[in-house]
Amino acid sequence: MRQEQIQELIEIAEKQLVYAYAPYSGFKVGTALLTESGKIYTGCNIENSAYTPTNCAERTAFFKAVSEGEKQFQAICVLGGKDGKPESYTPPCGVCRQVMTEFCDPEQFQIILAINKKDYKIYKLSELMPLSFYL
Ligand code: THU
Repeated sequence: MRQEQIQELIEIAEKQLVYAYAPYSGFKVGTALLTESGKIYTGCNIENSAYTPTNCAERTAFFKAVSEGEKQFQAICVLGGKDGKPESYTPPCGVCRQVMTEFCDPEQFQIILAINKKDYKIYKLSELMPLSFYL
Protein backbone atom coordinates (compact mmCIF):
# COMPACT_ATOMS: atom_id res chain seq x y z
CA MET A 1 0.00 0.00 0.00
CA ARG A 2 1.08 3.54 -0.64
CA GLN A 3 2.32 5.43 2.39
CA GLU A 4 -0.18 8.30 1.86
CA GLN A 5 -3.03 5.82 1.72
CA ILE A 6 -1.97 4.22 5.02
CA GLN A 7 -1.73 7.66 6.64
CA GLU A 8 -5.17 8.60 5.32
CA LEU A 9 -6.75 5.41 6.70
CA ILE A 10 -5.17 5.97 10.12
CA GLU A 11 -6.38 9.58 10.18
CA ILE A 12 -9.94 8.56 9.27
CA ALA A 13 -10.00 5.70 11.83
CA GLU A 14 -8.81 8.15 14.52
CA LYS A 15 -11.71 10.47 13.73
CA GLN A 16 -14.20 7.63 14.33
CA LEU A 17 -13.18 7.32 17.97
CA VAL A 18 -15.51 10.19 18.90
CA TYR A 19 -18.49 8.24 17.56
CA ALA A 20 -17.72 5.02 19.45
CA TYR A 21 -20.55 4.13 21.81
CA ALA A 22 -18.77 2.35 24.66
CA PRO A 23 -20.42 3.30 27.98
CA TYR A 24 -19.82 -0.17 29.48
CA SER A 25 -16.18 -0.93 28.69
CA GLY A 26 -14.98 2.62 28.07
CA PHE A 27 -12.84 1.10 25.29
CA LYS A 28 -13.38 3.04 22.07
CA VAL A 29 -12.46 1.65 18.65
CA GLY A 30 -12.39 3.32 15.23
CA THR A 31 -11.91 1.75 11.80
CA ALA A 32 -11.46 2.75 8.18
CA LEU A 33 -12.15 0.08 5.54
CA LEU A 34 -10.77 0.54 2.03
CA THR A 35 -12.65 -1.10 -0.84
CA GLU A 36 -10.99 -2.44 -3.98
CA SER A 37 -12.37 0.58 -5.89
CA GLY A 38 -10.83 3.04 -3.42
CA LYS A 39 -13.89 3.99 -1.38
CA ILE A 40 -13.53 4.21 2.40
CA TYR A 41 -16.18 3.03 4.89
CA THR A 42 -15.83 3.98 8.52
CA GLY A 43 -16.79 2.15 11.70
CA CYS A 44 -16.91 2.41 15.46
CA ASN A 45 -17.88 -0.02 18.20
CA ILE A 46 -21.47 0.12 19.41
CA GLU A 47 -22.10 -1.43 22.83
CA ASN A 48 -25.36 -2.52 24.41
CA SER A 49 -26.59 -2.89 27.97
CA ALA A 50 -27.33 -6.57 27.25
CA TYR A 51 -23.62 -6.86 26.27
CA THR A 52 -23.86 -9.59 23.60
CA PRO A 53 -25.53 -7.35 20.99
CA THR A 54 -22.36 -5.23 21.00
CA ASN A 55 -20.92 -4.68 17.54
CA CYS A 56 -17.18 -4.21 17.03
CA ALA A 57 -15.88 -1.32 14.95
CA GLU A 58 -14.56 -3.67 12.26
CA ARG A 59 -17.94 -5.31 11.70
CA THR A 60 -19.68 -1.93 11.69
CA ALA A 61 -17.49 -0.88 8.75
CA PHE A 62 -17.90 -4.20 6.93
CA PHE A 63 -21.67 -4.30 7.37
CA LYS A 64 -22.05 -0.69 6.24
CA ALA A 65 -20.02 -1.46 3.11
CA VAL A 66 -21.66 -4.81 2.26
CA SER A 67 -25.12 -3.31 2.80
CA GLU A 68 -24.25 -0.76 0.12
CA GLY A 69 -23.15 -3.36 -2.41
CA GLU A 70 -19.41 -3.56 -1.71
CA LYS A 71 -17.84 -7.01 -1.63
CA GLN A 72 -14.18 -6.46 -2.45
CA PHE A 73 -11.78 -4.98 0.01
CA GLN A 74 -8.11 -4.02 0.18
CA ALA A 75 -7.44 -3.09 3.77
CA ILE A 76 -8.79 -2.03 7.13
CA CYS A 77 -7.19 0.22 9.73
CA VAL A 78 -8.11 -0.42 13.37
CA LEU A 79 -7.22 1.61 16.41
CA GLY A 80 -8.64 1.89 19.86
CA GLY A 81 -8.03 2.53 23.51
CA LYS A 82 -9.51 3.22 26.91
CA ASP A 83 -11.46 6.51 26.75
CA GLY A 84 -10.57 6.73 23.07
CA LYS A 85 -6.82 7.10 23.65
CA PRO A 86 -4.87 4.41 21.75
CA GLU A 87 -1.82 3.25 23.72
CA SER A 88 -1.27 -0.17 22.16
CA TYR A 89 -2.48 -2.10 19.11
CA THR A 90 -6.10 -3.30 18.95
CA PRO A 91 -6.12 -6.58 17.01
CA PRO A 92 -9.55 -7.65 15.71
CA CYS A 93 -11.50 -10.19 17.77
CA GLY A 94 -12.11 -13.69 16.43
CA VAL A 95 -15.64 -12.91 15.25
CA CYS A 96 -14.42 -9.95 13.20
CA ARG A 97 -11.61 -12.07 11.72
CA GLN A 98 -14.24 -14.59 10.62
CA VAL A 99 -16.32 -11.80 9.00
CA MET A 100 -13.19 -10.59 7.16
CA THR A 101 -12.59 -14.17 5.99
CA GLU A 102 -16.04 -14.18 4.38
CA PHE A 103 -15.24 -11.26 2.09
CA CYS A 104 -11.48 -10.93 1.79
CA ASP A 105 -8.62 -12.78 0.14
CA PRO A 106 -6.49 -13.95 3.09
CA GLU A 107 -3.24 -13.35 1.18
CA GLN A 108 -4.20 -9.89 -0.12
CA PHE A 109 -6.29 -8.22 2.55
CA GLN A 110 -4.22 -6.04 4.87
CA ILE A 111 -4.98 -5.20 8.47
CA ILE A 112 -3.32 -2.05 9.72
CA LEU A 113 -3.06 -2.00 13.50
CA ALA A 114 -2.30 1.54 14.51
CA ILE A 115 -1.62 3.55 17.63
CA ASN A 116 -1.06 6.76 15.69
CA LYS A 117 0.20 7.88 12.28
CA LYS A 118 3.80 7.02 13.16
CA ASP A 119 3.27 3.79 15.07
CA TYR A 120 1.52 1.02 13.16
CA LYS A 121 1.97 -2.59 11.98
CA ILE A 122 0.50 -4.27 8.91
CA TYR A 123 -0.60 -7.92 8.78
CA LYS A 124 -2.13 -10.03 6.05
CA LEU A 125 -5.46 -11.61 7.01
CA SER A 126 -3.83 -15.06 6.64
CA GLU A 127 -1.39 -14.17 9.43
CA LEU A 128 -4.17 -13.23 11.86
CA MET A 129 -6.56 -15.98 10.76
CA PRO A 130 -4.64 -19.12 9.82
CA LEU A 131 -6.53 -22.31 8.97
CA SER A 132 -9.79 -20.38 8.70
CA PHE A 133 -13.19 -21.89 8.02
CA TYR A 134 -14.70 -21.00 4.67
CA LEU A 135 -17.21 -23.05 2.63
N1 THU B 1 -13.81 -4.03 20.13
C1 THU B 1 -13.82 -3.61 18.83
O1 THU B 1 -14.64 -2.79 18.43
N2 THU B 1 -12.89 -4.12 18.01
C2 THU B 1 -11.86 -4.94 18.38
O2 THU B 1 -11.00 -5.27 17.58
C3 THU B 1 -11.79 -5.41 19.77
C4 THU B 1 -12.91 -5.03 20.65
C5 THU B 1 -14.77 -3.42 21.06
C6 THU B 1 -15.89 -4.30 21.54
C7 THU B 1 -16.25 -3.63 22.85
O3 THU B 1 -17.15 -2.56 22.61
C8 THU B 1 -14.94 -3.04 23.35
O4 THU B 1 -14.10 -3.00 22.23
C9 THU B 1 -14.29 -3.82 24.46
O5 THU B 1 -14.18 -5.15 24.13
